[in-house]
Amino acid sequence: MSDYSSRGNTDRSITNPRPAGTLTASPGTGEPVTSGNAFLIGDCMTGGYGSGPDILHDCTIAVDPGEIAVIVGPNGAGKSTAMKAVFGMLNIHKGSVRLNGEDITDLTPQARVRAGMGFVPQTNNIFTSMTVEENLEMGAFIREDDITGTMEQVYELFPILKDKRRQPAGELSGGQRQQVAVGRALMTQPKVLMLDEPTAGVSPIVMDELFDRIIEVARTGLPVLMVEQNARQALEIADKGYVLVQGRNAHTGTGQELLNDPEVRQSFLGG
Ligand SMILES: Nc1ncnc2c1ncn2[C@@H]1O[C@H](COP(=O)(O)OP(=O)(O)O)[C@@H](O)[C@H]1O
Ligand SMILES: [Mg+2]
Repeated sequence: MSDYSSRGNTDRSITNPRPAGTLTASPGTGEPVTSGNAFLIGDCMTGGYGSGPDILHDCTIAVDPGEIAVIVGPNGAGKSTAMKAVFGMLNIHKGSVRLNGEDITDLTPQARVRAGMGFVPQTNNIFTSMTVEENLEMGAFIREDDITGTMEQVYELFPILKDKRRQPAGELSGGQRQQVAVGRALMTQPKVLMLDEPTAGVSPIVMDELFDRIIEVARTGLPVLMVEQNARQALEIADKGYVLVQGRNAHTGTGQELLNDPEVRQSFLGG
């Protein structure tokens, strides 16, 4: 098992000055979490797809500047659904979404991008027939200013993308495609970055590299809210973690608290 203890988001100068917010561990109670004034919060969200049954039940996820917040939980727990709810792709009939103190519950996804959300969905997150550079240009669709500086920053973060910028993104490896997807989201210069399983289907080494880049992004002060299948590794780098079960908050705490929680270990981290 890799040791991430030295790799966390340790630059306290850019982290949330408030002591872990109002976040409290709620072991197994399923109680709604109160992190009411977080920078981005999906607060007590209840809702589902179309007229189908509710998938989320009083579900709360949140992130603050300088933080990496990680959402873990079993397959089908509603992690992607919670991310989509925060991004406005699903109607919630209870709860709200707030960004920087503003209620954005009624905004369309497009309007949320303009408000500062960068979202990388779990699937279909790049245009495979377009080149790497065209993908990045597409990412900047809402901008009318000069995007070359931002593109250079993305290439600095992911140098392989600069080498492959003229290649169709579909020809890249899984890890490189995920870099394209993250880079595309960064092109809008978002105020918060939301990643749904950025390391899906990549090798452990590539996962480590992607996590390092995500830490690097978070250290610039950009809040990162991400869903991860690799629960243990993700919680190692998480300032804050959420375990979702059946659309509810099952456990919440700092990454370390969750890693040390016997019940979380037993049920979700393989002992
Ligand atoms: N587009 C959809 N329409 C209807 N139900 C969906 C849709 N996407 C997911 N679901 C259902 O919502 C539940 C949670 O799924 P999901 O959020 O994808 O879980 P996770 O990301 O935690 O694996 C599952 O029961 C799934 O079948
Ligand atoms: Mg999912």
